[in-house]
Amino acid sequence: MVRNKSKWTNLISESVKELLGKKSLLKKMAFEYNDYLDEDSTKSEMEAAMDDLEISCEFDTYLDDNSVTCSIKVNEDEELARFDLAELFGCCGVCVLSDLTVETDDHLNKGLGTLLHGIALDIMRDDGYSYAVCTDVMTNRPSMKLLRKYGWKKTGEFINNRTGRTIGVFGLDLSKVVRIPVKKKLSKKVVKKVAQKRR
Ligand SMILES: CC(C)(COP(=O)(O)OP(=O)(O)OC[C@H]1O[C@@H](n2cnc3c(N)ncnc32)[C@H](O)[C@@H]1OP(=O)(O)O)[C@@H](O)C(=O)NCCC(=O)NCCS
Repeated sequence: MVRNKSKWTNLISESVKELLGKKSLLKKMAFEYNDYLDEDSTKSEMEAAMDDLEISCEFDTYLDDNSVTCSIKVNEDEELARFDLAELFGCCGVCVLSDLTVETDDHLNKGLGTLLHGIALDIMRDDGYSYAVCTDVMTNRPSMKLLRKYGWKKTGEFINNRTGRTIGVFGLDLSKVVRIPVKKKLSKKVVKKVAQKRR
């Protein structure tokens, strides 16, 4: 699973760093990680500290080779976000997306979920999957927005006997994903890099 790990780790690290920069979160992180920075720091000191921040991405296989956790970290320390991908047991055409999580409140609602959801779908297609499946509680508003945005269809709904919560089951034909924010939202420089890597 995730055949081209280096391609995706580079793409995720670069696009997350670019998004954080746009939302001024990188500046905030630079202050957190560098005691020497203060309000009097020069612009170039600030920029150098932001450049030095390393956004890394790691794929860890769990259970077997057909399931991975993708974890995105700052300076290999603080986890920013994560998601899991797993091939549906018994059908090599279906991939399950789960546990897409943006870890700290500061980083919520800044577009990270949208970016990573789109990349997760790109990874599935790149790995040759045809159909994606996921479940979530129907009351999870940000998650429901993401599913709508990417064209997922609700294929079922049930009350989970274990939790009493109403769960939606969603499916997505991967050949019909129209919106790919990686292409639309990133700078021309990054889009060019991505296109080169995809060739
Ligand atoms: C679901 C989750 C990953 C979304 O991450 P995010 O980075 O906040 O997502 P985005 O910033 O890209 O926002 C996605 C959409 O949700 C909306 N949104 C974000 N927070 C919201 C909130 N608290 N209430 C309502 N809508 C919200 C955004 O406006 C956006 O919609 P838009 O594009 O129409 O404007 C995040 O909320 C999370 O980690 N939740 C906890 C884990 C979880 O429930 N995961 C679900 C899958 S298992």
